[in-house]
Amino acid sequence: MNKEIHLVKRPEGTPTDEHIQIVNGEKPSPAEGEVLVQLLYVSVDPYMRGRMNDTKSYIPPFALNEPMAGGVVAEIVESKYDGLNEGDIVTGMLPWKEFSTAQGDQLRKVDPALGPITYSLGILGMPGLTAYFGLMDIGQPKEGETIVVSGAAGAVGTVVAQIGKIVGCRVVGIAGTDDKIDYLKNTLQVDEAINYKTENVADALEKACPDGVDVYFDNVGGDISDAVYPLLNKFARIAQCGAIASYNVPNDQGPRMQMHLIKSSALIKGFTVGDYQDRFQEGFQHLSKWVQEGKLTYEETIQEGFENIPNAFFGLFTGENLGKQLVKVNEPSQK
Ligand SMILES: NC(=O)c1ccc[n+]([C@@H]2O[C@H](COP(=O)([O-])OP(=O)(O)OC[C@H]3O[C@@H](n4cnc5c(N)ncnc54)[C@H](OP(=O)(O)O)[C@@H]3O)[C@@H](O)[C@H]2O)c1
Repeated sequence: MNKEIHLVKRPEGTPTDEHIQIVNGEKPSPAEGEVLVQLLYVSVDPYMRGRMNDTKSYIPPFALNEPMAGGVVAEIVESKYDGLNEGDIVTGMLPWKEFSTAQGDQLRKVDPALGPITYSLGILGMPGLTAYFGLMDIGQPKEGETIVVSGAAGAVGTVVAQIGKIVGCRVVGIAGTDDKIDYLKNTLQVDEAINYKTENVADALEKACPDGVDVYFDNVGGDISDAVYPLLNKFARIAQCGAIASYNVPNDQGPRMQMHLIKSSALIKGFTVGDYQDRFQEGFQHLSKWVQEGKLTYEETIQEGFENIPNAFFGLFTGENLGKQLVKVNEPSQK
């Protein structure tokens, strides 16, 4: 038997158990050029919520009654591809099935010398690259400037906050629990951190940003962003990375931002990390160097068990995770 996680109903608002089902499938066999892999770690990510909708986007919707899919770390259990051998640890985009086949050239070998193998799903993977390019390319931070980052205690936000400090900026993080605020202030050493669930965000931001806001790295959108716009400095830059506050709210409406952008001559740019595909090596080199030097630290929240993948995914919308949310499905056969 080969357990699989299927999307069985498209959510209108917040996804729950009624939208997802665990089913038993067949264990596949690899064809020439393919490998059979077993899942070790699964990444759950907010963008997957968008793939549950049947709408046009930068990535196709999940099909109903088919496995959901995403970034994973897996182990090769059988190889019919020259470049990979049994026991190799790889990363790639694979369906949520305990065992899958994949084209060997669609997977990348994980180098354990660079850090724990899970880092390829976080700081040395998609979230780390998102933070790096969104902040450095769109945010263009300059020493002494003020960066505000929403979703600051998550996979992307924690990296943005730390790179902001590395490049000499004042960093203000916004997150949703006191433990996260404590982590941001005391472990990541940001200058100020605001709990958006217990504080008046507009008042707290005004106090935390006495010189205004030069760079806004926005993971969240919604009311939090509405509170940031009035503080934008002349020629501020907004990296529009995510809008998780709106993902489960159909037809979300809010205050208009145009006047704030005009008054501040601010630049706002939406992006997906895939826009930077040609420069991934550059981002990866910077991130791995900072990790090796101990300048970047990284937190992971790991649930255990294939059956818990949906719960871990749902938890992103209630803020259960500090840093990167992962699910451990299996141990590698050789440690
Ligand atoms: N553009 C890209 O290429 C790209 C790539 C990766 C991620 N993203 C986006 O970046 C954002 C962060 O992604 P991530 O992977 O790093 O996730 P994450 O921050 O690790 O996890 C999501 C976090 O969002 C916060 N949150 C949930 N609902 C919220 C709400 N209504 N209002 C405010 N905060 C809320 C929760 O933290 P709290 O406890 O603080 O509420 C939760 O822990 C997401 O919007 C994601 O879609 C974009």
